[in-house]
Amino acid sequence: MTYSQPLENHLVSHLPRGVEKLQLSHFRSYETFNLSLDLTPVVLTGPNGVGKTNLLEAISFLIPGRGLRRARLSEIKKQGSQEPWSLSYHLKDGEGDLQIGTGQDPESPTSERRLTKINGEKAKNQSILAEWVSMVWLTPQMDRLFLDGPSERRRFLDRLVYGFDPTHASRLSRYEKALRERNLLLRQGRYDSHWLEGLEDILVNEGMAITVSRREVVGQLISVLKSQDHSFPQADLSLEGNLETLLQTHSSLEVEEEMRKVLRQNRDQDRLTGRTSLGAHRSDLFVVYPDKNQAASLCSTGEQKALLLSIVMASARLLSARTGAIPLLLLDEVVAHLDKGRRTALFEAILQLKMQVWLTGTDVSLFEELQGDAQFFGLGE
Ligand SMILES: Nc1ncnc2c1ncn2[C@@H]1O[C@H](COP(=O)(O)OP(=O)(O)OP(=O)(O)O)[C@@H](O)[C@H]1O
Ligand SMILES: [Mg+2]
Repeated sequence: MTYSQPLENHLVSHLPRGVEKLQLSHFRSYETFNLSLDLTPVVLTGPNGVGKTNLLEAISFLIPGRGLRRARLSEIKKQGSQEPWSLSYHLKDGEGDLQIGTGQDPESPTSERRLTKINGEKAKNQSILAEWVSMVWLTPQMDRLFLDGPSERRRFLDRLVYGFDPTHASRLSRYEKALRERNLLLRQGRYDSHWLEGLEDILVNEGMAITVSRREVVGQLISVLKSQDHSFPQADLSLEGNLETLLQTHSSLEVEEEMRKVLRQNRDQDRLTGRTSLGAHRSDLFVVYPDKNQAASLCSTGEQKALLLSIVMASARLLSARTGAIPLLLLDEVVAHLDKGRRTALFEAILQLKMQVWLTGTDVSLFEELQGDAQFFGLGE
């Protein structure tokens, strides 16, 4: 990753990009469903249960992973349907076109491996999707982010980092495995110093790489947030933790040395507490509401929603600037908590992103100000 150049230098294309056609088969509540789109923001409205979030979930399968509901492939198939589910998309990528297909493998319908085709060719695995599409989403399940513990915020941040650093996910899983093994060895009283040192080495090396990536992405988000030119509130972010504090005054090498020493010294203490006292698993994303200087956890529901929106919009902008992939932003049920002033500012910010942003809501009147600038689909009408 290199972040030294100004953001503008990385903008790959100013041409409109996004999904032009979506076809669902045996997917959730839809037996078959087709949607033809232009490249402006998309507003999906309709009563509860009509299938708005299902459509966002269908879009979320344009990137690797289990989609915005983190579902098992077997849950997604329309109940009662005998056929495997599948999704097909036509995308506009600047001047070019792209066709992506994904879904259950008809040859092994019980497999949890998602079959993916790009322009008709079967991909070796779904991770290739990240080269074509980048995506960020905000769902009502994320509303508790500032009230829950730091691990939820770390997961949120790490998901953002995956979009920039393809090695981040595997580093995290190696780190977490080493952490579990070290805790287990200590709990069992097995002070095999060779084994412990090996695990602590992984914690030091991977922990530093993870922290460096997180710090770079947060640093970039901060500069995107500072450079925005709209009136929607912009979150103040900082990454806090024992490694981050050490990195403020020491070089990476010094911090690695210190970490190695502390881990060795703290083995007894860590055995008693059952947890490792220092490392990348102790970091937290600290968010403050601008102007009021109030920690996000103490903010009102609408203020917290605004902070989340500000972070995901900045992430979408950063992804679109840093990667060559088609950027998409999915905002499920985000406007109901916002007052009129914040809604107006949100729409202004969304239009400035110049990307296909997908919005849902039960009440079409809340999106009135987007008339003429977005495409509206009333589901169940
Ligand atoms: N595998 C499935 N087979 C059939 N129906 C399903 C399946 N999974 C979910 N559904 C149904 O899909 C329907 C629509 O869900 P969805 O979450 O998209 O609604 P929504 O329009 O977002 O509603 P809300 O406004 O309440 O958020 C639900 O009624 C749900 O029961
Ligand atoms: Mg919904």
